[in-house]
Amino acid sequence: MTYTKPSTDDTGDTGDVGDYDLFGDDYVRDPASTWSQIRNRECPVGHSTAYDGSYMPVTYDDVCNAARNHESFTSTQSVSVLGLEGPPGSTAITTDPPDHQWVRRMLLPTMAPGAVRAYEEGTAELCRSLIAGFKSEGRADAAADYAQQIPVRVISALLGVPDEQADEFVGWVRDILEFANVGDLREVALGKLVKFLFSQLAQRKESPGSDIISDFVHMEHDGAPIDDMIIVAQSALLLVAGIDTTWSAIGSSLYHLATHPDDRKVLAEDPDAWDYAIEEFLRFYSPVTMGRAATQDTEIAGCPIPKGGRLLLNFPGANRDPEMFVDPDTFIIDRAQNRHVAFGAGIHRCAGSNLARMELRIALQEWMAAIPEFELEDADAVTWAGGQVRGPRSVPVVFSAQ
Ligand code: HEM
Repeated sequence: MTYTKPSTDDTGDTGDVGDYDLFGDDYVRDPASTWSQIRNRECPVGHSTAYDGSYMPVTYDDVCNAARNHESFTSTQSVSVLGLEGPPGSTAITTDPPDHQWVRRMLLPTMAPGAVRAYEEGTAELCRSLIAGFKSEGRADAAADYAQQIPVRVISALLGVPDEQADEFVGWVRDILEFANVGDLREVALGKLVKFLFSQLAQRKESPGSDIISDFVHMEHDGAPIDDMIIVAQSALLLVAGIDTTWSAIGSSLYHLATHPDDRKVLAEDPDAWDYAIEEFLRFYSPVTMGRAATQDTEIAGCPIPKGGRLLLNFPGANRDPEMFVDPDTFIIDRAQNRHVAFGAGIHRCAGSNLARMELRIALQEWMAAIPEFELEDADAVTWAGGQVRGPRSVPVVFSAQ
């Protein structure tokens, strides 16, 4: 399948801010200026021709109201920002009510706060062993050597899949999300992931373990075992939803700390500052934008959205709305009023938010305990990825090797 990108000049500038491109260099570098320009237009809903076209609200109320309105904006056609099909089979993220309720319920036991507490020590050990691998060198890539390595291993352990394949999983997830606009990378990676998970499912049926896939095998819906395709699709969802998102959040938080010594100081001196800081990292660097399709001709803030039109639920933009947040484009480490929607809103609100918060907090606290002082090695070497999930892919930093 081929997609039309918006026309660009040599600098990659798309001209009209409405014609945004979530994968474009300008947007990836500085999405907030696009949001604020759209917010200040007569019609505060962006409309882009990129990737078969989409509509993008940018105010907190418009994004939240649309996220809660599953009658007008369905998740069943695609939740990708490119309008492609999601993984085959029903998953929590690709169903509407009434199915959504029972499909989501399959995921909740392992994602509840009590269950997540049991993964804390293992996550901390993982972080410490990663740091031990580079500390003596006095330099590391905080994104590639650290942030990228954590969520894939945590979710692999939960699913009971071998974490020696971590690099392969990361490659598949990047092809599915980050390189979704490049040729058939996304379809090929999805095919490999689904095939791999079918083989894992067959193994669990032979010899069940204590992991999420084994739990799925024992679950029932309407008195019948869960269909294999749903088990595979839900497992794929956990890998895809759990890796890139959390790695982006950890990486952008470390990027922030590398470039803001005052905020490092606050966290080093005041253990109580962490609660507010974690929420501000999530608000300011929100990684995830989701897709929906309009089920009927409708409108948002007076701007028409035709039936079948694709809507981008721009949670990162909602989190920078000045009507909702004081001084929204400033990172305020002890921001008290912070009802951000980094994890979405409504029935599809992130099922993994407890796990994500735990991973983010432990990854940052372990880093700060071992490496309290660090800075960018070369600001020009920092790279960011865009699309469905925005976050840094390379953040080279230097620190004392002691
Ligand atoms: C900082 C990290 C994360 C962020 C910012 C994030 C963000 C989001 C957002 C915005 C949604 C809403 C989707 C929609 O409205 O269509 C969502 C849904 C979801 N997330 Fe996360 N997520 C994160 C980490 C995780 C983790 C670690 C997992 C589990 C391994 C996970 C699993 C899910 C699932 C299963 C859904 C679908 C829920 C449903 O449709 O009912 N997420 N996430």
